[in-house]
Amino acid sequence: MKEVLLELERRRAAAREGGGQRRIDAQHAKGKLTARERIETFLDEGTFEEFDMFVEHRSTDFGMEKTRISGDGVVTGWGTVNGRTVFVFAKDFTVFGGSLSEAHAEKVVKVQEMALKNRAPIIGFYDAGGARIQEGVAALGGYAEIFQRNVLASGVIPQISVIMGPCAGGDVYSPAMTDFIFMVRDTSYMFVTGPDVVKTVTNETVTAEQLGGASVHTVKSSIADGAYDNDVEALLQMRRLIDFLPTSNTADLPEVECFQPVSDPDYSLDRLVPDNANKPYDIRELILKTCDEADFFEIQTSFAKNIVTGFGRVEGRTVGFVANQPMVLAGVLDSDASRKAARFVRFCDCFNIPLVTYVDVPGFLPGTAQEYGGLIKHGAKLLFAYAEATVPKITLITRKAFGGAYDVMASKHLRGDINYAWPSAQIAVMGAKGAVEIIFRKDIDDPDKIAAHTKMYEDRFLSPFVAAERGYVDEVIMPHSTRTRIARALRMLRNKDLQNPWKKHDNIPL
Ligand code: HXC
Repeated sequence: MKEVLLELERRRAAAREGGGQRRIDAQHAKGKLTARERIETFLDEGTFEEFDMFVEHRSTDFGMEKTRISGDGVVTGWGTVNGRTVFVFAKDFTVFGGSLSEAHAEKVVKVQEMALKNRAPIIGFYDAGGARIQEGVAALGGYAEIFQRNVLASGVIPQISVIMGPCAGGDVYSPAMTDFIFMVRDTSYMFVTGPDVVKTVTNETVTAEQLGGASVHTVKSSIADGAYDNDVEALLQMRRLIDFLPTSNTADLPEVECFQPVSDPDYSLDRLVPDNANKPYDIRELILKTCDEADFFEIQTSFAKNIVTGFGRVEGRTVGFVANQPMVLAGVLDSDASRKAARFVRFCDCFNIPLVTYVDVPGFLPGTAQEYGGLIKHGAKLLFAYAEATVPKITLITRKAFGGAYDVMASKHLRGDINYAWPSAQIAVMGAKGAVEIIFRKDIDDPDKIAAHTKMYEDRFLSPFVAAERGYVDEVIMPHSTRTRIARALRMLRNKDLQNPWKKHDNIPL
């Protein structure tokens, strides 16, 4: 028996070595952790249960039969994050560059199926060279098996991808179908085809970083939802994110202790909105002052900064925040902001996370660039997302809510449950200047008349009361009471039960 046990230990040790010490050292020299180190850092200490440690590839081409390495380039299994079960897989770059073989794909599929069956989040750590070149179609088939499971799990369990090294070719599409993608700055990149192919096909000369580094995907393409400076920071932030998320679409919201009473007024908020309607202020301040302990996990911080999205908690329960940001482009809605917010709203709705929306929006961004780029369809995505969402929806208009953007931003008419406004709110078809120049065009050369018309328009529309008179705003609230009022509203809405008509699925404008 002793020999048998020792043999197991020997086999385990060999599997843990992956591609060998030389390749592990090379990984460390690049500032990267190994697959197992990543999993150990991410999970609660000592909770990792590994699957398929001894799986090997079955390829016999190109001398592959002589190079079988236990685990075959991916480490899979499950463990806990602050006590809650999560499934994990981590590509092992030290084994055939983490490339995907048929056997490697089967390992990933197994954890995907386990995660779905057991209704727990799944998180993948990527550091790989794409399809195993020696395997051909078996590797391509393996990818498609993974993609299919990504789609079936979408909206049922949270799926998160963290790119921590190369991620190219077949490896990019599974992350693209997960809920969130995060990257590590300077050591990770994602692209469908690499710089060499780009050079051949388009004659462009680019580095891997310029083509698909974190700076590209968090700022330009919006493929990634955030980036961190190194592996450890990324992994610890992923633990923080997991803590905000329910384990599945049928699980309760996670509850954590709240140390900040919601009954405390915050008088600084009474001074947040400047007197001058054209002056910006930082909507993040309102979000942070609404969240328990100002703990806010922002999604897509560096993309479409004119809208802020992310998770916080109120009274210990997760809330999704969406807020126009007056600091950037006056908080206008453009195609990028609409897409960013729409995807976030849909994630929250999938997982029963209540939505709190802060509105200060001068409208949709005019111009050929926007119209040619499909603003109508992109704006419609956000409209569609809010309209279909059945989760509790609380909206607060802090200042401007003009034009179509008033409708879109979780208005009463899109089944907003509780719609508040601050006394500084202005709800109208457009700003006073634009309105007067259109409806009193004949007086355009008479400054006195224009001034009088403008004053009349402002008095009539640039307040929350016309909307409140119609019940489109449920109540005009004091800014200092915002956290208290939102907490109470969220409590009242805990048992909200609203269903959309049965359908196979909707047809959101893509
Ligand atoms: C087999 C691979 C591999 C692959 C890397 N390796 N990629 N083995 N299949 N796809 C091996 C290397 O041979 C090497 O083995 C080890 O991994 C490390 O690779 P290096 O090249 O030494 O590392 P580095 O210089 O850091 O470059 C990493 C890399 C590069 C940029 C990922 O290896 C690379 O370009 N690989 C090929 C990428 C690719 O074209 N993949 C196919 C994409 S097509 P040794 O033994 O020397 O350590 C695809 C289609 C699927 O994925 C589509 C489905 C939808």
